[in-house]
Amino acid sequence: MEIRIQDLTVRDRYKLLIGTVVPRPIAWITTRAENGIVNLAPFSYFNAVASNPPTLAVSFSWNPDRDDHHKDSLRNLLASRECVVNVVSETDAEVMNLTATDFPQDIGEVSYLGVTLSESQTIETPRVASAPVAFECGLDRTVQIGDGPGSSTLALLTVNHVFVADDVIDDGFYVNVERLAPLARLAGGYYSLLKKPFELNRVRFSDLKK
Ligand SMILES: Cc1cc2nc3c(=O)[nH]c(=O)nc-3n(C[C@H](O)[C@H](O)[C@H](O)COP(=O)(O)O)c2cc1C
Repeated sequence: MEIRIQDLTVRDRYKLLIGTVVPRPIAWITTRAENGIVNLAPFSYFNAVASNPPTLAVSFSWNPDRDDHHKDSLRNLLASRECVVNVVSETDAEVMNLTATDFPQDIGEVSYLGVTLSESQTIETPRVASAPVAFECGLDRTVQIGDGPGSSTLALLTVNHVFVADDVIDDGFYVNVERLAPLARLAGGYYSLLKKPFELNRVRFSDLKK
């Protein structure tokens, strides 16, 4: 099928992109509002995009339910200029999903759902205690992509400090991905786990057989 994506509705463009760019890692983001309430929500328009400075990218979609069209996480991030990106492991799948519920602004999902937090080392915003990895981030910049329904605000986040659970990393910074058990998002309500990791070594052109 050849698809002229410009002719699709915003909803169908979204379905096509999230159904084909798979699996996507999930940034489970803690932010802190000015009144101290901690917000927690998952975002899968997410990836690591640079190593020096270490940078993550997350994209927040237009929110029809708020006057400023910002999700609460984005509003907090713009005000405090910091957040924690927590990695979601298999064991946190169900509670992660509940944190995507449209909680009213004055109800923090963290206390409502009984999620345990731990203090961060370099920022005021706490991390999720059960997350095997947590990136303490500062907001580098935002880039507005489009406007109105379907538009997004892309945030580039500079990683200032990383927590990794002792049982998933060794002294050489090798991560045991099977112990990490990261959850990934597919389309709709579908998720996936790493099934069968395998290794391919990089080949130099000069080593290729003619
Ligand atoms: C697995 C998963 C991934 C999601 N990814 C995104 C995303 O990349 N961008 C986005 O704006 N919303 C995404 N959402 C929806 C938000 O999590 C949802 O709108 C949430 O209520 C936002 O919370 P907040 O208003 O407290 O920031 C995702 C939801 C789930 C369950």
